[in-house]
Amino acid sequence: MNLLLKFWSSSIGKKWLVALTGLALLGFVMAHLAGNLQMFAGAAKINAYAEFLHANEKPLWVARLGLIACFLGHIIATLTLVRMNRAARPQAYVLNRHVQAKISTRTMALSGLTVLSFIVFHLLHYTLRVTDPRFRTVAEGGQLESVFDVYRMVLLGFQNPLLSGFYILSVALLALHLSHGISSVFQTFGLESKRSALWMPKAGRFLSLLIFIGYASIPAAVLLGFLK
Ligand code: HEM
Repeated sequence: MNLLLKFWSSSIGKKWLVALTGLALLGFVMAHLAGNLQMFAGAAKINAYAEFLHANEKPLWVARLGLIACFLGHIIATLTLVRMNRAARPQAYVLNRHVQAKISTRTMALSGLTVLSFIVFHLLHYTLRVTDPRFRTVAEGGQLESVFDVYRMVLLGFQNPLLSGFYILSVALLALHLSHGISSVFQTFGLESKRSALWMPKAGRFLSLLIFIGYASIPAAVLLGFLK
């Protein structure tokens, strides 16, 4: 207990917590993407996947609670780290170091906050389904064949160009956030060498680009009529 408290109160302990929770969240983002890409395999496939997830309520809730804990841990550790750094350096640098920082580094807080607000909206939209009355079953006055008719729900949702645009913008900011986060994880774990410092940011950018293309392809395919 004492060791845990010591770990938490040190700046390196908090950095590790940000990195570990960030990695867990990245794992979720990739797994969720793999599930969502089943939209391209047709309604039967993705709806069966949704039914499978909801048939396993207990493990689903364990995963959800783990996810919430990671979110909270990631945000709280980041905020306390920022406060600790500010307290250690009360006067701003004379030379504005932001000039040299990459755009993803500078926008970490902004992209993080946008991702957070996106997730709140996304949960209301596709999980709680309170933003669109069509996301109810036909028997309840909506347009879904059953509560597991995720295919039709996503199709109906992304037929709105404004909403699709909002999703695409949000996943672009998520990718920006991940791009910086992935290369920072290696630094935090002390895995950075002269050589790896060259390819790590590139690998982070490449993985983030793939994640962006994967997520954005779904609303884009609906808008372009590839998914109907
Ligand atoms: C094109 C993009 C996306 C699509 C089509 C999509 C689709 C969905 C759907 C259909 C659900 C509800 C599943 C169900 O209840 O059966 C869901 C839940 C969820 N999504 Fe997404 N999603 C997208 C992007 C994202 C992104 C980028 C994130 C996170 C950064 C995210 C995080 C979540 C979370 C946390 C849940 C709740 C999971 C649960 O409680 O079971 N989604 N998504």
